[in-house]
Amino acid sequence: MFAIRQHEAGGKLVVESIPVPQPGAGEVLVRMHASPVNPSDLALIQGNYLARNFPFTPGLEGSGVVVSSGGGLLSGMRVGKRVACSPDPEGDGTWAEYMKTSAMRTIPLPRSISFEQGAMMLVNPMTAMALLHMAKTGNHQAVVNNAAASALGKMLIRLANQNQIPLINIVRREEQATELRNMGATYVLNSNDSNFEAELHRLSHELKATLFMDAVTGEQSSLLLRAAPQGTTLVAYARLSGDPMMVDPGSLIKEEKQIIGFQLGHWLQTKGILFKIRFINQVKKQLSDSLTTHIKGNMPLEEVEKAISLYKKSMSDGKIILTMKKSNK
Ligand SMILES: NC(=O)c1ccc[n+]([C@@H]2O[C@H](COP(=O)([O-])OP(=O)(O)OC[C@H]3O[C@@H](n4cnc5c(N)ncnc54)[C@H](OP(=O)(O)O)[C@@H]3O)[C@@H](O)[C@H]2O)c1
Repeated sequence: MFAIRQHEAGGKLVVESIPVPQPGAGEVLVRMHASPVNPSDLALIQGNYLARNFPFTPGLEGSGVVVSSGGGLLSGMRVGKRVACSPDPEGDGTWAEYMKTSAMRTIPLPRSISFEQGAMMLVNPMTAMALLHMAKTGNHQAVVNNAAASALGKMLIRLANQNQIPLINIVRREEQATELRNMGATYVLNSNDSNFEAELHRLSHELKATLFMDAVTGEQSSLLLRAAPQGTTLVAYARLSGDPMMVDPGSLIKEEKQIIGFQLGHWLQTKGILFKIRFINQVKKQLSDSLTTHIKGNMPLEEVEKAISLYKKSMSDGKIILTMKKSNK
């Protein structure tokens, strides 16, 4: 089969011909159809995310059809199914003609969901629903989110509107602010405006926003924590700035603010099986609606480097979907 391979952290991505992996007990082999490029893929390729043995195949989520099972009840039940899938923690990823993974890491897709939208189901839609769940169960009256013109940010806007939770969206460019207002966001602040911190302070106190979702981190975290009301929880869920967080401990101590980390996989592990089944069903139901992702374009897997540079030029414009056209021949 052909696959995208990387031989060292930060190294070039090359198309290689490698043996089709053989699934073991509890595992399935997925013939891949589609996979997005996400910020976590970029971090992984740069060597800033999960540990990997080299060479390896990147790609942290995708969709395809299960073509064989290595044995086991669930794996057997998956054969022939269209699925959303993700790789095992240290396994090869979705940017290949075939991927071997645990049957537990595949979720059957209803016919109504395309391979493209299905390929993006496991990361952002589930995270958006998880963040909404945190807002509701934590009894927060309002929420703040930054990098809000992201695919995930747009899902949060739709979910917050549906659930009547005031959401303060932070973007870094004026055209992003306009786009979010046009899609129904009530509160949008531009972090490059001179009065940004004062406005965030005013609005978050007025709305009693005590849950701050922070995907940018770095220096922005200290500003967020300075502006936030007493008792705020800042949820660090990505490091888009690439910088370490520098926080004045005084602002944590005096006003009982806290910083917590969020990683979808770990969060799900804390939930019971019934919760997970209900949660996944809710995500599937809303995938063509609140949890949909705008697609900027499709590109063949072999053009992955081009796809990445196109995506990086303006991430807010939508996802680039890698398609495994050769596998359909
Ligand atoms: N912790 C978890 O489990 C988890 C799960 C899912 C997603 N995430 C994170 O959630 C974030 C959004 O993901 P996505 O796939 O929805 O993203 P996306 O659609 O690819 O968009 C990325 C967004 O981040 C903005 N951005 C990039 N670098 C930035 C910086 N230094 N400062 C401010 N904004 C910046 C981009 O704005 P421009 O267009 O201006 O570049 C764009 O709006 C990512 O960081 C991702 O890693 C975390």
